Amino acid sequence: MTAEPGLPDTLRDLPAWAPGPVELADLELILAGVYRPLTGFLGSFDTAMVIAGGRLADGTPWPVPVTLEVPKELTEHERIVLQDPEGVPLAVLRVTEVWQEPTSQGWRLAGPLEALRAPAHGPFHGLRRRPDELGAREGNVLGVATREPLHRKQLGQLRQVAERLGARVLVLPVMGGEHDESLVRALLGVRKELPDGTEIIPVPLPPRGDGDARQERDVLLHAHVAAAYGATHLLADREVEDTAIPVAVPEPWAYDADVEVWRPVARIEPDHVQAELTPERLGELLDAGEPVPDWFTPPAVAAELALARPPKLSRGITVFFTGLSGSGKSTVARGLADALIERGGRTVTLLDGDVVRRMLSAGLTFSRADRDLNIRRIGFVAAEITRHGGTAICAPIAPYAATRAEVRRMVSAVGDFILVHVATPLEECERRDRKGLYAKARAGLIPEFTGISDPYEEPEDADLTLDTSRMAPDEAVGKVIELLTEGGWVRPG
Ligand code: ADX
Repeated sequence: MTAEPGLPDTLRDLPAWAPGPVELADLELILAGVYRPLTGFLGSFDTAMVIAGGRLADGTPWPVPVTLEVPKELTEHERIVLQDPEGVPLAVLRVTEVWQEPTSQGWRLAGPLEALRAPAHGPFHGLRRRPDELGAREGNVLGVATREPLHRKQLGQLRQVAERLGARVLVLPVMGGEHDESLVRALLGVRKELPDGTEIIPVPLPPRGDGDARQERDVLLHAHVAAAYGATHLLADREVEDTAIPVAVPEPWAYDADVEVWRPVARIEPDHVQAELTPERLGELLDAGEPVPDWFTPPAVAAELALARPPKLSRGITVFFTGLSGSGKSTVARGLADALIERGGRTVTLLDGDVVRRMLSAGLTFSRADRDLNIRRIGFVAAEITRHGGTAICAPIAPYAATRAEVRRMVSAVGDFILVHVATPLEECERRDRKGLYAKARAGLIPEFTGISDPYEEPEDADLTLDTSRMAPDEAVGKVIELLTEGGWVRPG
């Protein structure tokens, strides 16, 4: 890949690379000065020090490794152009170190960045600000970095802490999840519940790692980012040592069912404390399309929650059939599509294996790489259909577990995914041999034929297993409909 035209002549011949989402977010924050004192990606020594003790080699506290991984081909250049996913050049990296990550052996480049232009991708980028674009401030500023909408409880706690500190409020929606837009809209929607003069500035910080360590790192990183934007305090639910600015932990609040307001637990009679709405219960309400109670969250937030997690009856779903050639996948998939269309209420797209091979994947072979590409393409289309609330029914062989898992991940990020293993035994598929392909494969006329001369990895994560040698197609379709009905995606009967 070479950098696109429009670059200064001196840069046009440099190799170009589009970093992944976390690295791109890091790049944006480095260029915006939010990651001060960092001016580029870290080298091996700084990285090791950060991982071991949360400090750069020079002793500056720094919570997360900020590194850039590239393919080996890109390790032989002094400078490379970094671009966004659409190929717009953003910065030039002057390489000061090429190193290998000890565990993954992935290649990393370190060195300072020189900005070419401000990143302008992603929704609400118009709300983004560089710290140096904000005017000077006086007095306390309470920063709140959040991946979640603020419900009535958090709004109350926030107002209480801001008042105690005499602080203005700076809300930093943390971008990098599937529902970024929804988060920002939910925060803009409660503006009038926030103290006057509250600013809302989205910052790109995709999640990295998980578990307890991540929560602690998040607080450290959020404190650093908030401080860069002029915050003097960070609102967080836990104290962490060594933060860039002090953390303010709010006192516990609850809903007082007697006077119907949220307030500090200390001020509520114990038998008036209303139980919290658990995340599980909230999920159930949304799944069923029932209203989220007003005592819990303002209507603007409730509306965003319902958009981000639509009722199951109208939520997008992919039903992914996998199985040998001749196992009956296409027949059951077609039967399912017809049955759903007859019932109404859902739009259905059938992505049958052979049909996809004629259209979307024309020209691909049956090598492992091409099969994987074929399945990824199907997964990409299915995920888009699912994102838009449709029903995608896929029926390729999909012989590899890892590729199926990748599709499950892609789809699950935007809706629901069901894997159906059509587990008709090979002998039966071969006995049927409708297309005469097994005979040809046995005769050596078709190389790499699944089940004969090429592998099929049996799924261990199937949500439903069907054996069409033991049941009629109608019965198999009935089983899938039953699963969809029980799961709430399809209305009973
Ligand atoms: S996959 O492996 O990439 O998922 P896909 O479902 O698209 O396979 O295509 C399988 C269909 O291609 C089979 O039903 C069969 O008709 C045909 N086919 C042709 N060559 C092969 C082969 N070598 N292995 C499996 N199927 C083949």
